[in-house]
Amino acid sequence: MSETLFAQYFNEESRPLDFYLKKMGGYTASKKALSMNQDDIIGEMKKSNMRGRGGAGFPTGMKWGFIPKQSAKAKYLVCNADESEPGTFKDRDIMRYTPHLLIEGMVIGAYAIGANHGYIYIRGEYTREAKLLDQAIQEAYDAGCLGKNIHGTGFSFDLTVHRGAGAYICGEETGLLNSLEGKRGEPRVKPPFPAQAGAFGGPTIVNNVETLAAVPYIINRGGEWFSNLGKLEKSGGTRLFCVSGHVKKPGVYELPAGSVTLRQLIYDHCHGILGDKKLKAVIPGGSSAPVLTADEIDVVADIEPLMKIGTMLGSAAIVVVSEDYCVVKLLARITRFYAHESCGQCTPCREGCKWMEDIIERIEHGHGREEDLAMLLDISNNIAGKTLCALGDAAAGPVMSFVKKFRADFEAHIRGGKCPSA
Ligand SMILES: Cc1cc2nc3c(=O)[nH]c(=O)nc-3n(C[C@H](O)[C@H](O)[C@H](O)COP(=O)(O)O)c2cc1C
Repeated sequence: MSETLFAQYFNEESRPLDFYLKKMGGYTASKKALSMNQDDIIGEMKKSNMRGRGGAGFPTGMKWGFIPKQSAKAKYLVCNADESEPGTFKDRDIMRYTPHLLIEGMVIGAYAIGANHGYIYIRGEYTREAKLLDQAIQEAYDAGCLGKNIHGTGFSFDLTVHRGAGAYICGEETGLLNSLEGKRGEPRVKPPFPAQAGAFGGPTIVNNVETLAAVPYIINRGGEWFSNLGKLEKSGGTRLFCVSGHVKKPGVYELPAGSVTLRQLIYDHCHGILGDKKLKAVIPGGSSAPVLTADEIDVVADIEPLMKIGTMLGSAAIVVVSEDYCVVKLLARITRFYAHESCGQCTPCREGCKWMEDIIERIEHGHGREEDLAMLLDISNNIAGKTLCALGDAAAGPVMSFVKKFRADFEAHIRGGKCPSA
């Protein structure tokens, strides 16, 4: 693809408002949108086949359509900038280099759902990006693109950056809303969903950074144009792939949705495996996505194709693992992360994640027992689908898939009493 929506602007020069106005057609989409009927904006979003970039891939237009037209309580638009799924680092580039795309996308989204206040909930570790967003927001206020009577249309929208404190669970939308309200970052029971009762009890839309930053393009060029960028039905636009691990050229790659297989991404775009070693495994959608073996990478890296083979695109964070890295050690690190980040509300997740961590670590260090693999599968089965939020599934999926697909590696650790490559 010659033209990218985001990646071509991923440099320091693109950040100022002046660049956005002069080189990117900045704030023309919000001018257009604010003269449109709100239903027509939602209609364009539906036509665009934009599917949320936060992980679940929920259709954005449909989500916006769930907001009640009339509400006694104030409505809110919240941007999920927590970017906490391990392996994911695309939202950071959008906020760092093209903050005005996100701000303008939020103005349009807020107008479409009837919200006059929005929040960008940003992960605590992104101190630099939080500062840059504050500066860009001030620029937008000064230029009349944000605040009272935007572009003289009578529509007002205030935007606040809210910093998290570094908790994975605050990326889950209702944990995020609790944290935003000053409560513990614990996911809520659903229903009610945020569109009915979200921030401060008002109807609320929570969208990922990349989702919202694409909105100005969709309004300016049309939903159909955006949809046609994607190569598969029901998957519009481009995807920002975050490729990390043992590849020669890791980084953020923007490609049309559904246009590339995992093999092409790894070998053509990222120039193959470090040291020309063999590929051992690929995690296709952030650390919570079930792992794939080297034989499974001729699959299109998009939502439906990956779902069909039992894994997911998630946040499009692709972690590549070479033949000489121990997959038991990798699963131990992943599982430790989820055990640490479990909020503790649901017993299966609170207890089960810690049990899985202990068992995998003892296997890693050569103290595993014959019955451990069956026990891991039993525990993970008792977590998946049995918790309030999807953190339980995020922790269980990797355990089930690693044990199933790399059973021989686990058995070698147990029988040999140590890591075979140590
Ligand atoms: C444990 C957990 C962590 C999550 N972390 C993030 C995150 O860091 N960023 C994000 O955008 N979505 C995250 N999500 C998904 C959000 O709950 C929500 O679906 C998303 O923000 C909706 O935005 P979208 O429709 O634009 O994808 C997480 C979900 C779970 C269960």
